Amino acid sequence: MVNRNINESQLNDYLMTIEMNKAIIDIKNPVLTIKDLSISYEKGKYAVKDVSAGIKKNSITAIMGPSGCGKSTLLRAINRMHELYPSIQTFGKIYLDNEDISAIPSIKLRQKIGMVFQRPNPFPTMSIYDNVIAGYKLNGTRIKKSRKDEIVEKSLSDVVLWDEVKDSLHKRGTFLSGGQQQRLCVARTLAFQPEIILMDEPTSALDPIATAKIEDLLVELKKKYTIILVTHNMTQAARISDLSMFMYLGELIEYGITKSLFTNPVNKKTEEYLTGKFG
Ligand SMILES: Nc1ncnc2c1ncn2[C@@H]1O[C@H](COP(=O)(O)OP(=O)(O)OP(=O)(O)O)[C@@H](O)[C@H]1O
Ligand SMILES: [Mg+2]
Repeated sequence: MVNRNINESQLNDYLMTIEMNKAIIDIKNPVLTIKDLSISYEKGKYAVKDVSAGIKKNSITAIMGPSGCGKSTLLRAINRMHELYPSIQTFGKIYLDNEDISAIPSIKLRQKIGMVFQRPNPFPTMSIYDNVIAGYKLNGTRIKKSRKDEIVEKSLSDVVLWDEVKDSLHKRGTFLSGGQQQRLCVARTLAFQPEIILMDEPTSALDPIATAKIEDLLVELKKKYTIILVTHNMTQAARISDLSMFMYLGELIEYGITKSLFTNPVNKKTEEYLTGKFG
């Protein structure tokens, strides 16, 4: 056990395993378990190397690390988006509530594990209303108009956008500001009541005010959902995440409670990254 700034109750909750200069926290009853995951786009080269980690329910887990270290590759594997790359090879397993995700049909999996991307990407020809329920349309799921209305209002309310758009639901989604569009994209994910929301740098294309709104939203959403957030913005990770991962050259080097990882990193590479020595 390494001396870190965690209080006693946290110590009871977590067990740290330290091997080969890595420090990885063990999460009790994780909602998602990544086990010995390696991913390769080209034979002999690994974008993700032997990553194992549990994800804590109703928390925000930040994934940090320099460009090209495998953050997006890891995130995409969690809802099997990486299958879109034909030459990709994956080793290891991922479990959602103890169920191997490779056994879950991809449409169902992506409803349970939604994803929000770096650039807000509402469907350009669709209205705000249709964007929220786009997933149902694309899957060919028929639902009653009254149920659709409910889903649209609830999802837009959950992302604190309802009051801003309720009188213009039939205008195009792209008519909104960048920050509003990103909240619309989160609403589109919430329309399925997912368990987990994956976010790949969701605020890097936004201004500070829109970023602050998304950050407040994530802190609110974690009461109901589990969020995994890739971010280049270290102050963002420090501000809003509960747990943080530091990846380097495809490996998970350090994973811990955000406060202690930032104030007292175990690994030298983590410390160098956090102090801006590289990245
Ligand atoms: N579609 C692809 N085909 C081949 N190689 C890829 C592909 N996508 C990513 N890679 C490689 O895999 C490695 C990890 O890339 P990845 O995009 O996961 O990194 P990242 O940490 O998300 O970087 P960034 O912070 O720049 O977004 C890199 O070496 C990258 O060149
Ligand atoms: Mg990336």
